[in-house]
Amino acid sequence: MSVLKKQQESVNLSVHRGDFPALSQEINGKPFVYLDTASSAQKPKIVLDVMRDVYETHYANIHRGLYHNSQVTTEMFESVREKVAEFIGAPSSDEIIFTRNTTEAINLVAYSWGRQNLKRGDEIILSEMEHHANIVPWQLLAREVGCVIKVTPVLDDGSLDFGALVSLLSERTKLCALTHVSNALGTINPVQKITKAVKDFSADIKVLIDGSQGVVHGTVDVSKIGCDFYAFTGHKLYGPTGVGVLWGCKELLNDMPPYQGGGDMIETVAFEGEDGAPDGTTFKSAPARFEAGTPAIAQIIGLGAAIDYLTMIGMDNIAAHEGHLLGILNSKLEEVEGLKIYGTAQEKVGVVSFTLDWAHASDVAMILDQCGVAVRSGHHCCMPLMKRFGVEATIRASLGLYSNEADIEQFIAALHKAREMLS
Ligand SMILES: Cc1ncc(COP(=O)(O)O)c(C=O)c1O
Repeated sequence: MSVLKKQQESVNLSVHRGDFPALSQEINGKPFVYLDTASSAQKPKIVLDVMRDVYETHYANIHRGLYHNSQVTTEMFESVREKVAEFIGAPSSDEIIFTRNTTEAINLVAYSWGRQNLKRGDEIILSEMEHHANIVPWQLLAREVGCVIKVTPVLDDGSLDFGALVSLLSERTKLCALTHVSNALGTINPVQKITKAVKDFSADIKVLIDGSQGVVHGTVDVSKIGCDFYAFTGHKLYGPTGVGVLWGCKELLNDMPPYQGGGDMIETVAFEGEDGAPDGTTFKSAPARFEAGTPAIAQIIGLGAAIDYLTMIGMDNIAAHEGHLLGILNSKLEEVEGLKIYGTAQEKVGVVSFTLDWAHASDVAMILDQCGVAVRSGHHCCMPLMKRFGVEATIRASLGLYSNEADIEQFIAALHKAREMLS
């Protein structure tokens, strides 16, 4: 895949496990096994050190001070914009907007681009596998402007029904907003192929990709994907919470009105407007136009450290490592009685969702916790997807670059123990 390269051969990343201080602890007297990376990744020490260093040495607000520390911090902050652009293949760092998370990035597009460009009867295509963060902002928009949401079905193996998606395209379609990788099933969507099909139908239709899970598991190149917006969140990318990214084409961004108003996003502010304008305030170009107020300075610098760390390991190596472990995990899960996996598409990342016919997901998750194993149980913010598969909840085990075979063994042993206790 040009957008998310997956390799089959195993790459040993065990040397990096020690980079994550949280993983060396015991939980309930057992080695801590963290299988909830799809929810949020643990942080390598380098990310924590860099943020601590910001606060202990040169911390100051950015873009404002003429003094030394403000300038050092501003330079570090802005260099992360360059790093992010390079990391996702964006043509320019001016196209990188820092947000709080993916949720805010998608809401930004819905409020700014959506309210400017969509009207009653216009259509937005989503899919059944979207996270609520890529459903609810569009529903709020639809309630307000009267546009219509169409939903691409998911096939039984958890892959997107590409043919159905193409058949949903119409002259009213204005936007196609899809996830790169399903957080609940692990399915990798062929976003480059989808974007091409959409743009072949009409170059005017915008494509937004929710890259929250996509950017974590392999090399992403937004220029190759050909989409208009790509959104992701820093905390799943081994960086801190409180920082996310929206990438958008420069021309598109500069046509969009501000999403929030405040400091640092204006050129000038005046109460008096000319030629009957209600005020004389004007706005900077992107990205500043969309970054009102003081941003998460130390966290954004921490995200830069996370990107350096991942680049040093190599995203393709991470994909290969997780792909290898996924094979082991799948074959061990097959041996567990009464277990059903949801999401068996050919192209998938190290995320496995399953139910057990002998117990409820949350009861099992609690017993796993007693055994030191952290997994997620529930709807994974994908209620429509759960409905599609006729379940209320699944147990989800998700792998990260630090996961290893010992984690899988402890997890499987804990599952057998849960079965003894619950069935
Ligand atoms: C596919 C997907 N989209 C969006 C989100 C929302 O991310 P955040 O809560 O960081 O905004 C998540 C988080 O689980 C996700 O997995």
